[in-house]
Amino acid sequence: MEKFRKLPNFQPKSGTMQFLRFSSLRKDVENTLFVGLGVPNDLTHEKLRQAAGKAYAKLVSEKVKNVCILVDDFKKVIKPKNLLVFLRAFGEGFILASYEFKKYKKPENKEHDHNSLENIVFLCTDTGLKNQLEKELSEVQAIGQAVNLTRDWSNEPSNIGTPEFYANQSKKLAQKYGLKCRILNKKDAQKENMGLFLGVGQGAEKEGFVVVLEYEPKGVKKHKTTIAFVGKGVTFDSGGISLKTALKMEEMKHDMTGAATVMGATVLASLWKSPNHIVSIMAFTENMPDGKAIQPGNILVSRSGKTVEVINTDAEGRLILGDALDFAQDFKPDVIIDAATLTGAVSIALGKHCCGVLGNDNAVISQLQKVGDSQGERIWQLPLYDEYFEDLKSNVADMKNATNDSQGGTIRAAIFLKQFIRKGTRWAHLDIASTATDLSHISYYPKKGSSGIYVRTLAKFAMEFRK
Ligand code: BES
Ligand code: ZN
Ligand code: ZN
Repeated sequence: MEKFRKLPNFQPKSGTMQFLRFSSLRKDVENTLFVGLGVPNDLTHEKLRQAAGKAYAKLVSEKVKNVCILVDDFKKVIKPKNLLVFLRAFGEGFILASYEFKKYKKPENKEHDHNSLENIVFLCTDTGLKNQLEKELSEVQAIGQAVNLTRDWSNEPSNIGTPEFYANQSKKLAQKYGLKCRILNKKDAQKENMGLFLGVGQGAEKEGFVVVLEYEPKGVKKHKTTIAFVGKGVTFDSGGISLKTALKMEEMKHDMTGAATVMGATVLASLWKSPNHIVSIMAFTENMPDGKAIQPGNILVSRSGKTVEVINTDAEGRLILGDALDFAQDFKPDVIIDAATLTGAVSIALGKHCCGVLGNDNAVISQLQKVGDSQGERIWQLPLYDEYFEDLKSNVADMKNATNDSQGGTIRAAIFLKQFIRKGTRWAHLDIASTATDLSHISYYPKKGSSGIYVRTLAKFAMEFRK
């Protein structure tokens, strides 16, 4: 191997790979994949995740079934203090790359299935390191479970992935992971005066549900810190009476990815045994245009009592979140983070290399950004000056949900949400509309469909947040 490294035609630059077949020469090692990691001093967690993602794809295409990662080789180039976290990042890249949404494909049409990797082993001669690595890798396995759950939820077509489906799934998963689960149906939402949430669902045949999940840390008697997560769960967004055009409308099955992200993060934080209490609220409904649907010009009364003139029924996410955020505050959380595929405008502003964050607390926002950076999940702050609310003043109600021009769309949506945040509540909003799907430029995400990004960041934030 040493000799190979010195060959003039192999330059181990970051992103390069060299696959050698030894099948006819040796019995113990059939093939070897050399993965270039570049200059050791420039190595980052994210480079390792992406190198692992690439390696995974290469191994699958070469029809390798069992792979053994030589930890001792990493030791030659990585400083001891970085070794464990870098190996973990490599494991994360592998596990995140191994996803395929294949439940509706016949076996012969599945891309990976016949040739997917069956076993991944880290081979390590140092027993001290081995024990530590085992612990890290069990956390990595939890990442696989949680992120793939989010991806599965998000990819589910809306004829199966109905609000009722996610409510039932939540119940089952709550049992599996030891979470408390309460489900509010339409009647319960009426009792809670969730006029905005109910308004959005009015034009749909399928009943909407609000799911409340709670994770209680073991051994902590009194709640020290409560984190609330809130997720937009629009299982299909047709736009309602303000109907969307046909092009890419099928992608609106992913409009519940905020809720799916919250679900994955809650599961992951529970598997990681977060020391903080977590309350997760996911508001599931469809946005459809039938004879009972809300119409532009209608006025809805929110749970908070504030009234909203609906200018555009396609600006539905902010409506359901308005009620969900108000509801979340009854749990007296120390911080609320919401996640939503809220605006097309966030793709215009930021593209696919980060999501947008807006809120009322810069310390919370910078902590989210810091945690996000550590996970390779970038988050960029947009301003939330109160003056933006001027655009949403209504002649007939306390506010309107949209205006008829498209300036500052992501900020306008967030300033709308802010009207439902009570004085003293610390809050940040993630607009994940552009990053929720199709992150094909990063090797460990699926080429198409749900990315599962921000599950790790939210879970880590839930682990680390202190008042
Ligand atoms: N679900 C959409 C936002 C979206 C767009 C997500 C593209 C993913 C990809 C949201 O409900 C919406 O339709 N927003 C409108 C708001 C407008 C009517 C004020 C938008 O962004 O165009
Ligand atoms: Zn919409
Ligand atoms: Zn939407």
